[in-house]
Amino acid sequence: MKGVILAGGLGTRLHPLTKITNKHLLPIYDRPMILYAIDTLKKSGLEEILIVCGREHAGHFMNFLGSGKEYGVKLSYALQDRDNGGIADALSYAEDFSDKDSIAAILGDNIFQYDFKQAIQKFEDGAKAFFKQVKNPRRFGVPVFNTDKTKILKIEEKPKNPKSDFAQVGFYLYDHSVFAAIRKLKPSGRGELEITDVNNLFLKRGQLHFEFIKGFWSDAGTVESLFAISTLIARQKTKKKESKRHD
Ligand code: DAU
Repeated sequence: MKGVILAGGLGTRLHPLTKITNKHLLPIYDRPMILYAIDTLKKSGLEEILIVCGREHAGHFMNFLGSGKEYGVKLSYALQDRDNGGIADALSYAEDFSDKDSIAAILGDNIFQYDFKQAIQKFEDGAKAFFKQVKNPRRFGVPVFNTDKTKILKIEEKPKNPKSDFAQVGFYLYDHSVFAAIRKLKPSGRGELEITDVNNLFLKRGQLHFEFIKGFWSDAGTVESLFAISTLIARQKTKKKESKRHD
């Protein structure tokens, strides 16, 4: 299986920072955001990676990451023509790259302290989505569960009245039929091809598997979350340094 990092979009919630460069190149403590997504894919056993980015600042990605050799991965790049076409639109650019095999997709602004190795090894067909309990589900794709949470009835994107306190995190596994599914999508109210609509299509076919993830997860798409994650990682690194000093 290969990996795709979806790093398009305009990152308007981070203006004026994203007027200088792309959101995924902004620092999270001491490293550009995109390196965290690369690490998650690497830790999950995926080293052949496609980065889908928007046209604005696209050169910044290539100047910084090059072939990926320095980071232990093999990188390819694709340009998303429509700046805010949506996550599913960005994923559609991975069709040739996936070479008819299954594919793992990660949102470039999602920071995980978790790896998906086992899920990838066990994955057979259809799609797999991952969920985590959160305090503020309204910002996310939110699953509607049956009473004992063994089944998802549907996933609602940014619902005003969330029916659970779980968020769909930005990591997905798909078999090759995902590209045909994306072609069937219509733009949502915000004019984007939504990944939640893709997952609901698999759900309707009885082919959406899911799992709850452990470990830290956050998206870094707002000034507040970018700052909070940077602070957390700074603390973790300082603690590590201090405990090394005491050894
Ligand atoms: O963070 C998890 C959430 O991400 C999920 O719970 C939601 O279901 C999902 O829709 C998404 O919501 P956001 O509104 O936070 O997505 P955002 O527009 O911030 O895009 C997330 C990443 O996807 C972004 O860092 C880059 C990529 N992207 C986004 C768009 C709109 C693209 O590559 N191209 C795009 O056109």
